[in-house]
Amino acid sequence: MDPQDPWAEEIERRARAVWTEAAIEQLTEGKDLPILPSTAPVLLRALGLLHRDASMPPPQVRKFLQLNHMIRLLRPPLLELMGRFDHLHLVDAGCGLSYLTLALAWCFREVYRHPATLVGVERDPTRVEACRATTARAGLGSMLDFEAAAIGDFVPSEPVHAVLSLHACDTATDQAIALGVRHGAELIAVAPCCQAELARGWAKLAATVDGPLQPIWSTPHLRREAAATITDTMRTLLLRAAGYEVRVVEFVPSQHTPKNTLIRAMRRGGPDREARRAYEALCEATGGVGIGLAAAL
Ligand SMILES: C[S@@+](CC[C@H](N)C(=O)[O-])C[C@H]1O[C@@H](n2cnc3c(N)ncnc32)[C@H](O)[C@@H]1O
Repeated sequence: MDPQDPWAEEIERRARAVWTEAAIEQLTEGKDLPILPSTAPVLLRALGLLHRDASMPPPQVRKFLQLNHMIRLLRPPLLELMGRFDHLHLVDAGCGLSYLTLALAWCFREVYRHPATLVGVERDPTRVEACRATTARAGLGSMLDFEAAAIGDFVPSEPVHAVLSLHACDTATDQAIALGVRHGAELIAVAPCCQAELARGWAKLAATVDGPLQPIWSTPHLRREAAATITDTMRTLLLRAAGYEVRVVEFVPSQHTPKNTLIRAMRRGGPDREARRAYEALCEATGGVGIGLAAAL
């Protein structure tokens, strides 16, 4: 849909009335956020984060803040890439309803003013259809494409500068990391969720192996929590082993989502054998199970 059509004009008009400076100040708590209802009403309405009357109800506020915090954290590495490449190609792996894909596309056009194209990869074809409709409503069709595929099967038709993945389920995060490493992506940024692979391995050990970690392996909640942290640590080590400089940060306060870890990796050099050895040692120390990503890389 053309952003200048009556639908877009109407939401812009309503947003001007609702989103005064004071209302923005209250929403953002004075933080400098890249995407605001006053500057991006059409995008936010297309994403369903603004109501028809341009208001933003509390559940949508959480998603809105999550997106903004994620984009703020991605800004420094993206600025670095913009300085190095005239046109950026990004992949959003497990894009779901494409909040991040569209928000980033909007930022490239309206904030960074740098040529970029983005592909959202999503295995659920009905979601892909919904993404295409949202993209058209937001007027971002020229920058975005979507593919209904599993991340592991996705074959990019362009070079891949960055692979992003926000809350792709379980090992889908590993598929996103493997995709980035395989295609030499300069930036890989993933916010993992439901890390279950290692927990499944530990559950099997609980029945057969004794050892100091047995109380964790045999207690489902502790096992899930510990496995999530160790899984992300293993991912970090494997990324370092593959030549990436890695930072792990909390991208949003835990009241917005408990799955608030962002692993941000920039390609810097050749393989790091020490990091691979550290992965093997961690694997050994925690029952010898490890994660499938180690074999995939
Ligand atoms: C929790 S949602 C997150 C969606 C989106 N990234 C967001 O943050 O709003 C996870 C999405 O990843 C998709 N997904 C999970 N595993 C996948 C895989 N292996 N390949 C492609 N998509 C996958 C699911 O269908 C779902 O839409």
